[in-house]
Amino acid sequence: MKLEGKVALITGGGGAIGGAQARLFAREGAAVGVADLFEEKARAVAREIEEAGGCALALALDVQRSAGWAAAVAATERAFGPLAILCNNAGANVRVGFDEQTEEQWQLIVGTILTGSFLGIKAAVPSLRRAGGGVIVNLGSLASIRPGAGSPAYGAAKMGLVGLTRAAAATYAPDGIRCAIVSPGHVDTPFLREDTPYSPNDAATSLDNPENYRRRLRNTPLGRLQTPEDIARTVLFVVSDDAAMITGSMITVDGGAALG
Ligand SMILES: NC(=O)c1ccc[n+]([C@@H]2O[C@H](COP(=O)([O-])OP(=O)(O)OC[C@H]3O[C@@H](n4cnc5c(N)ncnc54)[C@H](O)[C@@H]3O)[C@@H](O)[C@H]2O)c1
Repeated sequence: MKLEGKVALITGGGGAIGGAQARLFAREGAAVGVADLFEEKARAVAREIEEAGGCALALALDVQRSAGWAAAVAATERAFGPLAILCNNAGANVRVGFDEQTEEQWQLIVGTILTGSFLGIKAAVPSLRRAGGGVIVNLGSLASIRPGAGSPAYGAAKMGLVGLTRAAAATYAPDGIRCAIVSPGHVDTPFLREDTPYSPNDAATSLDNPENYRRRLRNTPLGRLQTPEDIARTVLFVVSDDAAMITGSMITVDGGAALG
């Protein structure tokens, strides 16, 4: 039980990577606030945790809204006590190039990933201080390492998270608050398969397209796409005391994809 007695707030908690974190953290003894834009997705994960004997609270949260953040942190603290862990997983992408990317898409992607993580850190830090310190994890990407000709907003937002992580790590180290960024490679999740409002996919971009699947596989030297659980296990390490001296760092979980 690596997280016995700890309280965690997880955004994108109704999604694949956030949901895997929520379930794993709960199994390791944490009480978990499961926050998502779609409340029913958060509720499904929270219910699963409770049915397995864990402690969870489902929260509706649009990470782009600071008022929503204040309410989510307050509700989690009321239910379980001050936060020791914040995981910023909520993400958005629209896979078009520079010429095609609209201002509206830019606002959605940068607003969800970068502004959302900034607002989350601001909202959570007073609670983390009340807990006597804690850990913030931001969800990066291969785009945090080598953004290219894909969606410029996604590249800018995920690169921006590297700077946000370092700024938070440097600022809050004296409070005993660590901050790190975990960057997955190609993870088989709805983000890359389904046609959602925050991450639209069509036949050209979806993993349902075998050619697209094979291309991502070819670009992964260890020979398989990552699972949400691969990412969750690394995030568990980062938030646990095993990583007590890790702050400001990026940890890549990509099967070697960034080597190419
Ligand atoms: N799947 C991959 O290959 C991959 C690779 C690198 C990074 N990532 C990152 O992982 C994170 C999680 O994605 P996933 O793969 O689990 O996909 P997912 O679609 O399963 O989960 C994303 C979750 O974020 C929620 N969300 C979207 N906008 C939100 C908002 N404004 N406020 C609150 N919640 C919101 C969605 O409802 C969804 O539950 C994202 O930040 C994504 O950029 C994914």
